[in-house]
Amino acid sequence: MSIKLTNVVKRYDSKLAVDQVSLNIQKGEIFGLLGPNGAGKSTIIKMIMGLLKPNNGEIEVQGLDIKKNSIEIKRLLGMVPQDIAIYESLTARENVAYFGSLYGLRGKKLKEAVDEALVYTGLLDKKKEKPKKFSGGMKRRLNIACAIVHKPEIIIMDEPTVGIDPQSRNHILESIKELNRRGATIIYSSHYMEEVEVLCHRVGIIDHGRLMGIGTKEELKSQMNQDQIILIEASDIRFNVIDEIKKLQGIINVSLKENTIEIITKNAQQVIHDVLFVMGKENTLIRKFSLQEPNLESVFLTLTGRKLRD
Ligand SMILES: Nc1ncnc2c1ncn2[C@@H]1O[C@H](COP(=O)(O)OP(=O)(O)OP(=O)(O)O)[C@@H](O)[C@H]1O
Ligand SMILES: [Mg+2]
Repeated sequence: MSIKLTNVVKRYDSKLAVDQVSLNIQKGEIFGLLGPNGAGKSTIIKMIMGLLKPNNGEIEVQGLDIKKNSIEIKRLLGMVPQDIAIYESLTARENVAYFGSLYGLRGKKLKEAVDEALVYTGLLDKKKEKPKKFSGGMKRRLNIACAIVHKPEIIIMDEPTVGIDPQSRNHILESIKELNRRGATIIYSSHYMEEVEVLCHRVGIIDHGRLMGIGTKEELKSQMNQDQIILIEASDIRFNVIDEIKKLQGIINVSLKENTIEIITKNAQQVIHDVLFVMGKENTLIRKFSLQEPNLESVFLTLTGRKLRD
């Protein structure tokens, strides 16, 4: 286990920002914290980093209690904050070197680590430039270089792709995958469904400070127990085709609208062969076939009662 939160609560004055959150993040995974603005993502991250104290509950990082071992834990962690934190008056290289020196790197080791972090983030050729001239995406990449220079085992990124150009965005997503392949555990917060869907092994859905669901995408989708819809556009649909499909096992409803048969089922994969067999037997000419599966967007909608970008 990399990180364990147990019944964590955080209040800002009277505002309850994190409400009894318990979750485990496993070693070697990319874990997504998905939630809309104000959900509590940054507050959770700051508590894991030891930058904020929870009002209640326990946080452990690799078996160490955050209250007792905050210095050791800081060495294990690297954080890319939501608001970029770099020094505009230092060059790119000096920025990364500064963060490396905070972790005790010196001399040749420091130089090598800095170069490696700059190569990693695609900034080596910019190392002598000051970030004043950088685009938002380049600044973000520099911030990532600062966070990984001491080779942390756990890297936490708080919405690192907000407001940056697509090229930097892809670069960041690819470098996260590569860091993970090399063994780092990643926590990635975002309100972009598609990013979390392609990047993360497991996802925690946060809304109003509460953990509404957790699991792999497949687990979350199957927990939904949602109906799936099969749409088949065809010509020469005889009425007994509809009747025969209705009789198949696993079918909830079948209807015909113009040339399209709409089949509602809990498990499309299970019924589809039987449906096609019936249609084949009746010589129905199939023109178009589609399956509407639930995605994380519909999971979120079901769990929270609202759309992610309301
Ligand atoms: N320093 C603070 N003082 C008072 N309230 C705060 C403070 N920081 C955050 N909050 C409130 O706590 C709640 C959770 O905020 P948090 O920043 O953790 O959300 P978030 O999920 O990171 O949102 P975003 O996607 O906008 O970054 C919000 O209602 C926010 O207004
Ligand atoms: Mg935030």
